[in-house]
Amino acid sequence: MQLDQATQEQLRQWESELADEYEAIVKQNLKLDLTRGKPSADQLDLSDALDGILKGDYKAADGTDTRNYGGLDGLPEAKELGANLMGVSADKVLVGGNSSLTLMFQMMLTAHQFGLTGPDSAWKNDGDVKFLCPVPGYDRHHTVCEQLGITMVPVPMTDTGPDMDKVEELIKDDPRIKGMWCVPKYSNPTGVVYSDETVERIAALGKIAGPNFRVFWDNAYAVHDLVDNPPELACIMKACETFGTEDSVLQFASTSKITFAGSGVAFVNASQANLKGFKEFLGTCTIGPDKVNQIRHSRFLPDRAALMAHMKKHAELLKPRFAAVLDALDKAFGDTDLGQWQEPKGGYFVSFDTRAGCAKETVRLASEAGVKLTPAGATFPYGEDPEDRNIRIAPSVPSVDEVKGAMKVFVVCVKLASVRAQLGDQ
Ligand SMILES: Cc1ncc(COP(=O)(O)O)c(C=O)c1O
Repeated sequence: MQLDQATQEQLRQWESELADEYEAIVKQNLKLDLTRGKPSADQLDLSDALDGILKGDYKAADGTDTRNYGGLDGLPEAKELGANLMGVSADKVLVGGNSSLTLMFQMMLTAHQFGLTGPDSAWKNDGDVKFLCPVPGYDRHHTVCEQLGITMVPVPMTDTGPDMDKVEELIKDDPRIKGMWCVPKYSNPTGVVYSDETVERIAALGKIAGPNFRVFWDNAYAVHDLVDNPPELACIMKACETFGTEDSVLQFASTSKITFAGSGVAFVNASQANLKGFKEFLGTCTIGPDKVNQIRHSRFLPDRAALMAHMKKHAELLKPRFAAVLDALDKAFGDTDLGQWQEPKGGYFVSFDTRAGCAKETVRLASEAGVKLTPAGATFPYGEDPEDRNIRIAPSVPSVDEVKGAMKVFVVCVKLASVRAQLGDQ
């Protein structure tokens, strides 16, 4: 199917055939869901040994009674787990509760309201604050900015990460830009892994931006590979050390998609100066994190080898689901001008771009046919995809057969929306 070359008559015929196909699907009363990227029940089962792992031994290696208050920046062995996950040194890791999103929000709030390096460094002192958001991106990053009244400036994603020429140009020209969101490995939703050059250029931003500029390096998918020889992400903190820009990057990760999504452990990796500023804020919110859960996780995943072996089990469960999505897209759209996508080598998503102006209609048609998709536009700041093209597909939760069923519907909806749009345009 090549819409750009099709005659009016051909388009009308396709429309009529697809409309019949679509009506037949609607009659099946399907209830399928490709929305949020969360682990399936099978994946959660992989970590059931967390329950009971302590066998009454609550003492950490340094003698800390994990049941008690205290330990604001986390247990040493939990810091090791974070260090193994992010490939950094444990003395620059703080361990929080179950959610890295919470840590990101708290860090953003600290930088904005109170200043990470003293009150003079608070972003709010400089008036309106702006943040760079690579698009398409993670909707909850955008919500954090909206909540704090931070203006979002979209920057296009490329195959190697955010468009760095654009990023550097914007930062040089506007001191009100105080930072940038990044999901550097298996980016949500595109699956892109930032190239070495991109990582190096981001580490160097601290040299051209003001002293309070912070990159939020959300390494949520650091070890979430789907292939045997996964691409490697360069260590941003090492690059920062060479440029003397350690204060400009804040790295986050968690075990949400490693163990239990609702009951995991989250980490921040940052310079001592940033950690000091953050802990001043954190200490007013809590007397200490859930150290019992931290020690459970440290015993369950004692070293990098155990972590990587565990992630292989996740990959075995996820691979057939991703294959079902990619297979359906290849067969339906491989030699058409109806859409574009990339094959992710890890992470939780497949990002599909329809023809311009067709994403919302595709999602609407799918919803009426019983297949829930993430709302079109959700991957853009303020929910506005200027070209109305991007749809995020999250196949981890449904069974393989359900993913296959949902993709059959998706394909028909993309085709129908595209053919109708083309008919309308001619
Ligand atoms: C890029 C990204 N960051 C953070 C999160 C949430 O992490 P957590 O569960 O640690 O709050 C997600 C979850 O989907 C995500 O995709």
